[in-house]
Amino acid sequence: MEFKGADILSAKQFNRGDIETVLKTAAKMEPFASKKKWGDLLQGKLLASLFYEPSTRTRLSFETAMNRLGGRVVSSVGMQFSSLTKGETLYDTGRIVENYGDVIVMRHPDNDSVEKLARGANVPVINAGDGSNEHPTQSLLDLYTIQKELGRLDGLTIAMVGDLKFGRTVHSLSHMLSHFGAELIFVSPPDLKMPEPICRFLKEKNIVYKETADMGEAMKQANVLYMTRIQQERFEDMKEYEKHKGGYILTRELVEEKNPKLVIMHPLPRIWEITADTDDVPGAAYFRQVANGVAVRMAVLALVLGKTI
Ligand code: NCD
Repeated sequence: MEFKGADILSAKQFNRGDIETVLKTAAKMEPFASKKKWGDLLQGKLLASLFYEPSTRTRLSFETAMNRLGGRVVSSVGMQFSSLTKGETLYDTGRIVENYGDVIVMRHPDNDSVEKLARGANVPVINAGDGSNEHPTQSLLDLYTIQKELGRLDGLTIAMVGDLKFGRTVHSLSHMLSHFGAELIFVSPPDLKMPEPICRFLKEKNIVYKETADMGEAMKQANVLYMTRIQQERFEDMKEYEKHKGGYILTRELVEEKNPKLVIMHPLPRIWEITADTDDVPGAAYFRQVANGVAVRMAVLALVLGKTI
């Protein structure tokens, strides 16, 4: 893809070469992301950061990335303080905000909301999570993490566990992994299975995947275990959500018993699905994964703003 000026809306936009470009650029950002150096690559550029759903990592890592590369940030947080509550359309919001920022990052509770905003905005728009649909920059940082942890991306077995229905990170990650000949194991309760359009896409790409409810068996076969939170905010009936409490729980004991070499990832926040004693297991990569988010978001911002390093 031509990165300069591009909107980053979906993992489907990326081919293998595009992913590699982001990961190589991210590696060059490490001195800045790890706080060893301040950069000036994005000096004179302003990020408009619109977060209409809770966020800690995604917003702060984008804003940190921009600031540490010498750029600046304006932000709008919380839908109740924006004109969207007055009935302004996302298209109009896009037409407004393009006057302020050189690039826009948005998170919003509705699927396809970011695409609607992007139609109105003439500057690059980056999807930081649109409802239960997608979260493409999370997947880029997930791949960057897998590569750092295991030294490669090709031919791995990745097990994804938890809320595969509403979890936007696993939707985007499945698409991106399809370029690396991955074998996928989807572990979920029957009512939270990977959506059919994604399974169909994987079949078309000849990606081997299996669906199971058995996390222990998946742990034995996988190189990477990607845990997710049950997405409480997507449930209409809280009783349905409550049913999943005490479902899949990863403990240190389980890792040691099933596969001590397993790389354990989680987009975070974790609620109950990984116990705190797991954090010291050598393969527990979820906090390293957070750190990787800054370098990857630096790369994405630089690429869409047409800056090379
Ligand atoms: C994820 C999200 O917002 O989709 N969080 C994140 O960006 N790191 C995962 C989640 O909220 O469960």
